Amino acid sequence: MLKFSYPNAISQYTIPTLPNIDYYIDCPLDQLIEIEKIASEINTNANVLLVIGVGGSFLGARAVIDACTPYFRTNNGLQVLYAGNNMSGTYLKQLITYLDTKEVYVNVISKSGKTMEPALTFRVIKEYIERRYKDKSRHRIIVTTDRENGPLKQIAIKEGYRQLIIPIDIGGRYSVFTPAGLLPIAAAGIDIHMFLHGAKHARLDFSNDNIQNAAFQYAFTRYDLYNQGYSMELLASFEPRLNKLHEWWKQLFGESEGKEHKGLYPSTVNYSTDLHAIGQFIQDGSRIMFETLLHFKELEEDIAIPFTLEDIDQLNYLGGSSMNQINATSKDGVALAHALGGVPVLKIELPKLDAYNVGYLMFFFMKACVISATLLQVNPFDQPGVEAYKQKMNELLQENIVTKTN
Ligand code: PA5
Repeated sequence: MLKFSYPNAISQYTIPTLPNIDYYIDCPLDQLIEIEKIASEINTNANVLLVIGVGGSFLGARAVIDACTPYFRTNNGLQVLYAGNNMSGTYLKQLITYLDTKEVYVNVISKSGKTMEPALTFRVIKEYIERRYKDKSRHRIIVTTDRENGPLKQIAIKEGYRQLIIPIDIGGRYSVFTPAGLLPIAAAGIDIHMFLHGAKHARLDFSNDNIQNAAFQYAFTRYDLYNQGYSMELLASFEPRLNKLHEWWKQLFGESEGKEHKGLYPSTVNYSTDLHAIGQFIQDGSRIMFETLLHFKELEEDIAIPFTLEDIDQLNYLGGSSMNQINATSKDGVALAHALGGVPVLKIELPKLDAYNVGYLMFFFMKACVISATLLQVNPFDQPGVEAYKQKMNELLQENIVTKTN
């Protein structure tokens, strides 16, 4: 199914006991039915779903939606937009101007219910929806939060919003298989059953019973490279619609491993775009990184290179080849060149870019991430460093250094 390869892959390491969690991939059927019902209602009544959330509360859904949606169109006519992941007033103002021309539903997602970016954004958007939809506004807002705690929970109860629950033991970056990920994914017209099915197969394939499996091999190998002095892992892929999957991966590994002055710095590149930019550094700059090439073999569409009579650009030797074939060959070229340049190249390959394989891959990465953090002897599930910035920002805001605008 998923193939991991590296010439010097490490197959054995002694690791402390791993936490035995399944990331909620067994979402109960009644919840799945409710999620699909709401998704269908959104599609009937709206052409935009605005997802408000930050970090783990939106990156997973966005990664899946981008990976499983064709370029330049939607799956089902519903456009999914995102807010609450930045604090740009310009973004928010221009978003509202855009929303004015659309029929809108809102899904606000925050486990704590008190993260500054989504909380501020929701305050603005709630007022907008109420102004616009008046007594119908309550139906247009769906809250995804903790079962019991937090200000968002209290707002949801007071206003009578529909609520979906993020299980107490699942942190944001591990929450894509919970309602936090599933509602936006289902609304975007992606088959959540296939997505969860992929994750369930991955759970079987990457169980703790057999540490020869690919999740352990990947974690062992990156840990070994880290111990050899490499300080950065570059995740690279060749399909632009995987950009947000990169962002999700970056958060997953960065927030789970980067603590107590330990961990690989996770970075990402999109090829071939970045080969003409940061590619110079990768080939030839400081030797600090190894690279993990992510490749999906089968893509749903392709196009052939035409022959021309004059062959002025001298590309007739590629005439008749398909663009995806050339892209795959460029991947092999990159792997050879970077390895020769002193960059260890790991490969992760999946058969097809679809909901099933994306679910499979995300489970693989979550599992490998927990193994990796355990090898480093750090807690994969907390993020104490994120709290430090929040505290400093709050102190400054309390001191009232923000100039109030009209
Ligand atoms: O992975 C995490 O736990 C974080 O990235 C959170 O998802 C992020 O900080 C948002 O938190 P919340 O859902 O509580 O608003």
